[in-house]
Amino acid sequence: MCGIVGYIGTLDTKEILLKGLEKLEYRGYDSAGIAVQNDEGIHVFKEKGRIADLRKAVDDNVLGHTGIGHTRWATHGAPSHVNAHPHQSTSGRFTIVHNGVIENYLQIKREYLQDVNFKSDTDTEIIVQLIEKLVNDGNLVEEAFRQALKLLKGSYAIALLDTENDETIFVAKNKSPLLVGLGEDFNVVASDAMAMLQVTDQYVELMDKETVIVTKEKVTIKNLDGEVVTRDPYTAELDASDIEKGTYPHYMLKEIDEQPLVTRKIIQAYQNDNNELTIDADIIQSVNDTDRIYIIACGTSYHAGLVGKQFIENMAGIPVEVHVASEFSYNMPLLSEKPLFIFISQSGETADSRSVLVQVKELGHRSLTITNVQGSTLSREADYTLLLHAGPEIAVASTKAYTAQLAVLAIFANVTAASKGKELGFDLVQELGIVATSMEALCDSKEGFEDIAREYLATTRNCFFIGRSLDYYVGLEGALKLKEISYIQAEGFAGGELKHGTIALIEEGTPVVALATQESVNLSIRGNVKEVAARGANPCIISMKGLEEEDDRFVLPEVNEMLTPLISVIPLQLISYYAALHRDCDVDKPRNLAKSVTVE
Ligand code: F6R
Repeated sequence: MCGIVGYIGTLDTKEILLKGLEKLEYRGYDSAGIAVQNDEGIHVFKEKGRIADLRKAVDDNVLGHTGIGHTRWATHGAPSHVNAHPHQSTSGRFTIVHNGVIENYLQIKREYLQDVNFKSDTDTEIIVQLIEKLVNDGNLVEEAFRQALKLLKGSYAIALLDTENDETIFVAKNKSPLLVGLGEDFNVVASDAMAMLQVTDQYVELMDKETVIVTKEKVTIKNLDGEVVTRDPYTAELDASDIEKGTYPHYMLKEIDEQPLVTRKIIQAYQNDNNELTIDADIIQSVNDTDRIYIIACGTSYHAGLVGKQFIENMAGIPVEVHVASEFSYNMPLLSEKPLFIFISQSGETADSRSVLVQVKELGHRSLTITNVQGSTLSREADYTLLLHAGPEIAVASTKAYTAQLAVLAIFANVTAASKGKELGFDLVQELGIVATSMEALCDSKEGFEDIAREYLATTRNCFFIGRSLDYYVGLEGALKLKEISYIQAEGFAGGELKHGTIALIEEGTPVVALATQESVNLSIRGNVKEVAARGANPCIISMKGLEEEDDRFVLPEVNEMLTPLISVIPLQLISYYAALHRDCDVDKPRNLAKSVTVE
């Protein structure tokens, strides 16, 4: 949700900033801008639209060795040229980029900035105007910066330039992600290491309410009281090829195809030297101490949580509740005596989930984060972390992270069950191996899914996904995938629930994708298909080998019944992908969305 970059060094800044922003575009793509500083002052270029539009607007002749940049997902103020970052103070002395939301911006405007003539509708502009006011009141810039931050309520990752000092970038962080990257004769700032991998793989993590004075020789971290904090750098273990599309037309397709490999990586990562599945003993202890697990997540990760509940209850016999993070705070259920909270989040940065984590920590409860991003906020702040090992997921629509979440949840349930001495009657390593092979077969059947997308979804206005039991949860994910990238109104329903109202929406030709992978409900879901077909729907049944019937549109390879969500989702991902292509949609960057949702 907005991405920021900064560079101070000896090279021409603008290309480094633009390349960095291209890597961060998944975080928001309403508008973008850069500020380049040289002896003549600060040159700001900004544009509504994508980084490609910004590139065209940047004057190639402007050279500078210091600069900051921003790609925006609008919160306060519509996407427009004037609301695009960087923002400048009235005199033009200070220039800022900001990711986050300043909750008390109106109050600050009223109390401190009544005389200021604001140019934009953003909450960000108050920060830069406030810093200028505090400097005009006689404070040194660094002091004014800290004083301003102390007055802000909300989330921020900030980079600030001062026209009168071309040797420093002032940086700060609270709740929004931010890293400082280290180099020889240069240093960088980025929301995500991916952006600056082009110049360095050495990064220093920042904690909330820290500031950094970045020069080309040095980075100095200080808390808001001005006390110096020391922290060792780490090596970002990202492969440049992980973040490139390679020969793929879209990241989404690449990431769908990576699912077999990711599943195999997860098996390996969670095996000990005796090839047994294992997780940290402290986690097992906490699970064995709990009387109820609460899974908290949003969107696709929430859908993974619904399947995870079945894994944990069926394998380990622990009761599980699954909650949408944004609702949990004010709809908090009566908690059990010894709750354990599991946060599922690809990015590890989702603000809705984080606010629940803050709340449950205050209540003194234990927490585990299942995430793809080591060192992310949710990972740092929870007691324990299980990593997804899926590699960077760049397409806004989540695919490989979802199946990775399911695999890790299955391993978590399995190891917990083993620790309780439960006999499951199957070997999960072997079963996940079969899943990975089946995923490969599905990824090799793309033509069939392209045909389905063309036939059912090329022109439709709406589409339903139905299923029972585990298939219902996968249907929810299928519907989310389809609507977010193709803009088709799509809904997932429990097969038995349609007739309680929604069946009224079925018209001649309405596509209904039905999943039939669960033996115990196979006949019932087929009954539901007959009900909608009798009312004119155009059913597309995706079944499991062994349960198939003559008119089924696609038969999935057979895997352990409990693990079917790991493979039945792949046809739905591919169908959505091809539907979006047929409808000329921007697959990797769907409208109105951003990858990492760091506002509540
Ligand atoms: C949909 C999608 C979103 C995310 C949701 C939570 O394809 O990606 O629904 O799943 O915004 O994000 P994370 O998992 O990063 O917490």
